[in-house]
Amino acid sequence: MDWRRWFSRSGAQLDPELRARIRASFDLAAGDEEHFPSTIDPRIYHVKLIRRHLGALAGRRVLDVGCGKGRFARILHDEEPAAKICGLDLSVEMLRYAPAGVGVCAGSMTELPFADSTFDAAYATESLEHAVEIAKAVAEICRVVKPGGRIAIIDKNARARGRLETPAWERWFGRRELASLLKRHCRQVETHDISYWEDVPPDGLFLAWLAVK
Ligand SMILES: C[S@@+](CC[C@H](N)C(=O)[O-])C[C@H]1O[C@@H](n2cnc3c(N)ncnc32)[C@H](O)[C@@H]1O
Repeated sequence: MDWRRWFSRSGAQLDPELRARIRASFDLAAGDEEHFPSTIDPRIYHVKLIRRHLGALAGRRVLDVGCGKGRFARILHDEEPAAKICGLDLSVEMLRYAPAGVGVCAGSMTELPFADSTFDAAYATESLEHAVEIAKAVAEICRVVKPGGRIAIIDKNARARGRLETPAWERWFGRRELASLLKRHCRQVETHDISYWEDVPPDGLFLAWLAVK
């Protein structure tokens, strides 16, 4: 299939049919616990890094953008029960697995159904890469976070492209590419090469962007 037909000529606008296709694909994938697990080991560095960057969360509002089954939100909720965590995802089937105590919201990160500055912090793990309209999604995530709020994004590195099989719409990012999108809205942005384990050198697959709005 020529997937380019799903995009407008400018490449920036998304055909609503493609969003529906992406949603249907994740709705279907929700039953695949092996590849889309609903839990994650809290010792994994991705989790620790988000926890460290977001800081203390008691009484704070946190948005998990493209939360899937809420494996990250589950840990945040367990470790910080007084945090008000909301998971947003395109796929209602994924959201069915979200843990009790975590609020859920179906929608697209490119049009977040929240007022400006609703959240103290937001994070997105392996989800922005599916948003297609990347600049729009980054602007939306930043819009709903308060000034001074923290944002963490973990996605795959464009340099490692080809290492895994991916759907046609999935984008992997260069360090500077996503950093410059975040810098449009955030006063501080850092990028780190990361691996699953803190004491294992990164193999180039994952990057983390840590921002302060
Ligand atoms: C690979 S899963 C990652 C899920 C979760 N963040 C995790 O790490 O377990 C990608 C998720 O992004 C969601 N997604 C894709 N496009 C989205 C969009 N435009 N807005 C919100 N969620 C989206 C999918 O439905 C899916 O649940």
